[in-house]
Amino acid sequence: MSTVVVLLIIGIVDVSISQQHSSFRWLSHLRGRWLNSRRQVDSMDCPLECDCPLAYPTAMYCHGRNLQHVPYVPSHIKYAYLQHNQITGIKDGVFDNATSLVWIVFSYNQLNSNNVSNNVFGKLKNLNQLYLDHNELSRVPQNLPRSITKLQLSHNKISKILPNTLKGMSNLTILQLQANAIEDTIDAFKELKSLTMLDMRKNKVKKIPDSLPESLQQLYLEFNSIESVPEGFFTLCPNLQFVRLAHNMLTDKGLPSNVFNISTLIELDLSFNKLERIPVVSRNLENLYLQANKIKEFSLSSFCGTVNMENFSMLKMLRLDANGISAKDIPADAAYCLRHIAFIDV
Ligand SMILES: *[C@@H]1O[C@H](CO)[C@@H](O)[C@H](O)[C@H]1NC(C)=O
Ligand SMILES: *[C@@H]1O[C@H](CO)[C@@H](O)[C@H](O)[C@H]1NC(C)=O
Ligand SMILES: *[C@@H]1O[C@H](CO)[C@@H](O)[C@H](O)[C@H]1NC(C)=O
Ligand SMILES: *[C@@H]1O[C@H](CO)[C@@H](O)[C@H](O)[C@H]1NC(C)=O
Ligand SMILES: *[C@@H]1O[C@H](CO)[C@@H](O)[C@H](O)[C@H]1NC(C)=O
Repeated sequence: MSTVVVLLIIGIVDVSISQQHSSFRWLSHLRGRWLNSRRQVDSMDCPLECDCPLAYPTAMYCHGRNLQHVPYVPSHIKYAYLQHNQITGIKDGVFDNATSLVWIVFSYNQLNSNNVSNNVFGKLKNLNQLYLDHNELSRVPQNLPRSITKLQLSHNKISKILPNTLKGMSNLTILQLQANAIEDTIDAFKELKSLTMLDMRKNKVKKIPDSLPESLQQLYLEFNSIESVPEGFFTLCPNLQFVRLAHNMLTDKGLPSNVFNISTLIELDLSFNKLERIPVVSRNLENLYLQANKIKEFSLSSFCGTVNMENFSMLKMLRLDANGISAKDIPADAAYCLRHIAFIDV
């Protein structure tokens, strides 16, 4: 209260003493200081809805602000964080000046493919990682920059990937498509010469995607409707190390005899399927998951063709629980072949 009174008195005194000066000079002085500080922020071009901390001059934080549109992205920004908003679309031109962008995070929005223009990302020649997960996209956006190495599209409503959508993306190494509604991929991955990881868990895939790139190391296909693996399929991917096919509809009939006998494979997850036999695997395999199938016999020949001192399997983990076998079904000479296993889960 006393402060207000003092200010009022100063004001009156000011008016009465110097009529020729602006009676609220102190106020305009303060305003000037405020405008100056605004001008400094403006020169950095940060949109009002976002934070652009001085300590991270190339980052723009706009997450969790109930945004419905993409704010203006200044040209010097490299990292744009837009997650947890209600953005439904991206109009052509919004990123036209933002050609420095390296990362864009759009996770947890309401992006709808009909509202994402065809060439919104096309000019971003430096874009490296694009996060579009947890949206409502029904298609992979078109004309994605070829510079992208990681594309996160999980938890959307994508049902089909057309052949040309990912064309020429030869630097893409990680592609995440889990939790969509994908039934068909029609040669979509053929040109992805650098792809090492493809995650397609929780989709509606009925067969393993055609023409997987040779570079692939990790293939995750759990929770789909796959019944079979084509003859010689994995020999087309000479770098595969991790194959996960748990929670599918695989039967013995759908597995050609040597289809998993791939020497590069380290981990094979075939749990929660309908297998009655242990498939033949390479002696280099280290982890084999077969729990919750219908396996009734323990075939040592699946692991070692001939059992002798020199020929043994590198297997460290073998799960056979929730099948039709018990410890007494495991032959004594299994100890020579499976010498790296501490115990077998049955
Ligand atoms: C891009 O920058 C130019 C020049 O600074 C400006 O005229 C234009 O409005 C900007 N475009 C967008 C979409 O902000
Ligand atoms: C497209 O965006 C507008 C507003 O930007 C929104 O009202 C509309 O619901 C969106 N359309 C769809 C199909 O999401
Ligand atoms: C792909 O990556 C290489 C090596 O990092 C880089 O030189 C090249 O410019 C990238 N290609 C594109 C289209 O960005
Ligand atoms: C598995 O593949 C290896 C190497 O190609 C081969 O020597 C071996 O005989 C195969 N195992 C079976 C059981 O066919
Ligand atoms: C190991 O088994 C393979 C067949 O699986 C056989 O060709 C090879 O001679 C065996 N090696 C030794 C040292 O017994």
